[in-house]
Amino acid sequence: MCFGLMAWSTVAWTTEFERLSDDRVILVADEGTAVGYLVLLVPAAAEDPVDLLRIAVAPEVRRTGVGGQLLTAGLRRCAGRTVLLEVAAGNESAGALYRGFGFEEISRRKGYYAGGEDAVIMRLENAA
Ligand SMILES: CC(C)(COP(=O)(O)OP(=O)(O)OC[C@H]1O[C@@H](n2cnc3c(N)ncnc32)[C@H](O)[C@@H]1OP(=O)(O)O)[C@@H](O)C(=O)NCCC(=O)NCCS
Repeated sequence: MCFGLMAWSTVAWTTEFERLSDDRVILVADEGTAVGYLVLLVPAAAEDPVDLLRIAVAPEVRRTGVGGQLLTAGLRRCAGRTVLLEVAAGNESAGALYRGFGFEEISRRKGYYAGGEDAVIMRLENAA
């Protein structure tokens, strides 16, 4: 369980896979069993920003480099593009991961999440 109450339901995952198309990239980190995933929305038009929709790593293998490897592989698929994402303001692990890859905060949505937590919008220009 990676997201607790914010986890995607089976219905949400089914919808995600039904939408699979050229613009949706799902990467799975596999160490004999799935230990992490990354979901990107990559519009065909190069000038449109890529959306990083989700990244998660199984709790038992966190802080061993899996998230970084997924992000590296994902960003390679959209080299040169602008990438946007949204993260809860209190999510220190994800925030640190994203900042380490050069993402910068560009705006906030006040009280966006249930419970009143802010959403932080981050951007990476020129992914590599
Ligand atoms: C965010 C997440 C994907 C990171 O995955 P991970 O495999 O643990 O990340 P890595 O081991 O590759 O860490 C890469 C870097 O990110 C930063 N980082 C990761 N976890 C951190 C933590 N708990 N505290 C501080 N920095 C952290 C560090 O800079 C780290 O480098 P270092 O270990 O050399 O210091 C993982 O914590 C997770 O699945 N969280 C729950 C789901 C989530 O919140 N997803 C993001 C919102 S969509």
